[in-house]
Amino acid sequence: MRISVIGCGYLGAVHAASMAKLGHEVVAVDVDPVKIERLAAGDAPFFEPGLPEILAEAIASGRIRFTTDYAEVAGSRVHFLAVGTPQGPTGAADMTYIDSAIASLTPHVAAGEFVVGKSTVPVGTAARLAAGLQDAVPGATLVWNPEFLREGFAVQDTISPDRLVYGVPSGPAGSSAVEALDEVYATTLAEGTPRLVVNLPTAELVKVSANAFLATKISFINAMAEIAEVAGADVTALADAIGHDDRIGRKFLNAGLGFGGGCLPKDIRAFQARATELGVGESLDFLADVDAINLRRRAHVVTLASELLGGAVAGKRVAVLGLAFKPNSDDVRDSPALDIAARLLELGATVSAYDPEANHTAARIHPSLSYVDSASAALQDADLVLVLTEWNEFRTLDPAAVVAQVASPVVIDGRNCLDRDAWTAAGFTYRGMGR
Ligand code: UDX
Repeated sequence: MRISVIGCGYLGAVHAASMAKLGHEVVAVDVDPVKIERLAAGDAPFFEPGLPEILAEAIASGRIRFTTDYAEVAGSRVHFLAVGTPQGPTGAADMTYIDSAIASLTPHVAAGEFVVGKSTVPVGTAARLAAGLQDAVPGATLVWNPEFLREGFAVQDTISPDRLVYGVPSGPAGSSAVEALDEVYATTLAEGTPRLVVNLPTAELVKVSANAFLATKISFINAMAEIAEVAGADVTALADAIGHDDRIGRKFLNAGLGFGGGCLPKDIRAFQARATELGVGESLDFLADVDAINLRRRAHVVTLASELLGGAVAGKRVAVLGLAFKPNSDDVRDSPALDIAARLLELGATVSAYDPEANHTAARIHPSLSYVDSASAALQDADLVLVLTEWNEFRTLDPAAVVAQVASPVVIDGRNCLDRDAWTAAGFTYRGMGR
């Protein structure tokens, strides 16, 4: 099928390359000429495992084209909208990119074609866009098909997702939309992927409520970590024990620095803003606590660092291992790790920071941190070690070797990812999160 993808960020670039991988002919559009030039040359503009390979394959097969010219989308049967909806100044989602993308796209859409939203949007957006599209191009149909990809697993999550959700209008237009999307995802459906057909607002809500639930699960375990810390309990053992209950499940119960990234933090804030607009703000009051618990983790680590350094971090050498919001990503948007590194710097510490992939993205936001290009360089003569992103490279550090490099053997394991016994046995004062 001939498909267009509007927006070539984390979502759109992966979606476009994945659609080509599934055998479709793809036109990918972005307003940023530099990004388009890089993608056309097979150079992924961000770190995402598997993306360079499927991008190269798509380019070699001739099934993908990157352009800044919207006119090139003409003739695509399905147009995917995959632009960002960042957090606006009030906490509500900033819809500028969605609105400008749809305005640029609409003149090139014809009757019988489908505009398929993938971006995370406030509930009600699809109905508004559908009305506009209907007026401009009678016979074109707007549907919503939210994306649930996790960074680091984006390619796998796009090609073999847990589920497909189609938000469609009622009547024949909806049935045609289901047929078109079934054709897009034929390979995925043949693997047995569950597919749910719902109305437009349900599809929009599925996405934000899934993220709100995940955020709540993480903050729940971090709240337990706060209690475990004062009660002398171990939150990791607690998570293992409650996780054996199938109704609870062990996933997303890792206590630590909490959630960051380009999705969970802004999505829970935008969801609250939208609920308030709809007059049901109270329904999501609990998300304010979820957010607050999450942000307290960062403050907690800074306080702990200060305590371990004898009351003040000023003048101390601090090794920060990890800056990305999670491993296997170079994304530092709302990253707890980068936030903590920046706070320690602000308090007067000499911060030596290293991330296997995110040094360059972090440096754009906090150029004043001192970035080094290995864990070993960061650790040299450190008064305190903080492991803030659970990259495998850090999990597998040999504490016996590290102890010889640092000035003082004290470690904060912000992600509970180190072998506590091994680090303690090597002579380290070890502090985990909620243990
Ligand atoms: C998330 C959702 O998982 C995905 O379905 C949605 O489409 C986009 O948002 P992502 O932002 O890539 O994906 O990251 P995710 O793996 O969900 O992790 C989010 C944050 O939560 C990370 O900072 C991670 O470190 C943190 N986290 C996750 C925890 O602190 N504890 C956990 O147990 C799990």
